[in-house]
Amino acid sequence: MFALVSFLALFSASVSAMPALSVRQNGASCTGLADGSTDSPAYNFTLAAYNTTLSNTNSTGAPLVLGWGPAGTSPAASEWAISTYAAWHSNEWPYFTLSNGALFPIPGPDENGLGAYDFTVASGAEVAFYVTEHESDPEPALIYCASADADSEYAKLAVNNDADSLSLCQATTAAWPNTVLVYEANSNNTNYDYSTCYPVQVNLVPYEA
Ligand SMILES: *[C@@H]1O[C@H](CO)[C@@H](O)[C@H](O)[C@H]1NC(C)=O
Ligand SMILES: *[C@@H]1O[C@H](CO)[C@@H](O)[C@H](O)[C@H]1NC(C)=O
Ligand SMILES: *[C@@H]1O[C@H](CO)[C@@H](O)[C@H](O)[C@H]1NC(C)=O
Ligand SMILES: *[C@@H]1O[C@H](CO)[C@@H](O)[C@H](O)[C@H]1NC(C)=O
Repeated sequence: MFALVSFLALFSASVSAMPALSVRQNGASCTGLADGSTDSPAYNFTLAAYNTTLSNTNSTGAPLVLGWGPAGTSPAASEWAISTYAAWHSNEWPYFTLSNGALFPIPGPDENGLGAYDFTVASGAEVAFYVTEHESDPEPALIYCASADADSEYAKLAVNNDADSLSLCQATTAAWPNTVLVYEANSNNTNYDYSTCYPVQVNLVPYEA
């Protein structure tokens, strides 16, 4: 009998804990975004940019990959930005995973032993990662969310609680042309040509290995 009572007590305690748990799983990086948004989607995904003002070839959008970003300051790591496949022409990090608000590009066979780690994205900056040797205990910035979108098949990538302030812009810093994803594009940032920027939303397209 005691066993049954304590079992029931345990059961009701875990039931009452569930709403709090689902709120926590939604995550600070999803604050203010639609119900159903999550900082830890159960699927891996590729990214695709969808024009919000210009015409689109299809509703999935233009595929995005990791390409060279602005020249970094760290000698041990290079900075890579989310770029269009159309401009960068190769894809060494074939898909992404989003965990507790940290966005991880997953290395393909040529990038074995490396890791890509996100960091804070300031207004006007490229959406970028440090690529460095694989770290077992990285400390990425927890700033990304899969923002639910009732009008679309796909969740949208949100940065800093915002899925509506991303643009694609032509980079000025790489040794050859690249088109990069920028948060709150601004004419003051000289790593890209502001006059080329156009607004996009970024679809999370579920990836099947
Ligand atoms: C997502 O990718 C990670 C890294 O490769 C892998 O460990 C995980 O099992 C994948 N998750 C799903 C749902 O495929
Ligand atoms: C969005 O518009 C730009 C500029 O016209 C174009 O280059 C790009 O291909 C378009 N993207 C898609 C997904 O159609
Ligand atoms: C959508 O269009 C892009 C080019 O903008 C292309 O690369 C991609 O494969 C297309 N996706 C589908 C599902 O047709
Ligand atoms: C650009 O920088 C100047 C000087 O710091 C500042 O006054 C201005 O507001 C900035 N422009 C934008 C669009 O942020």
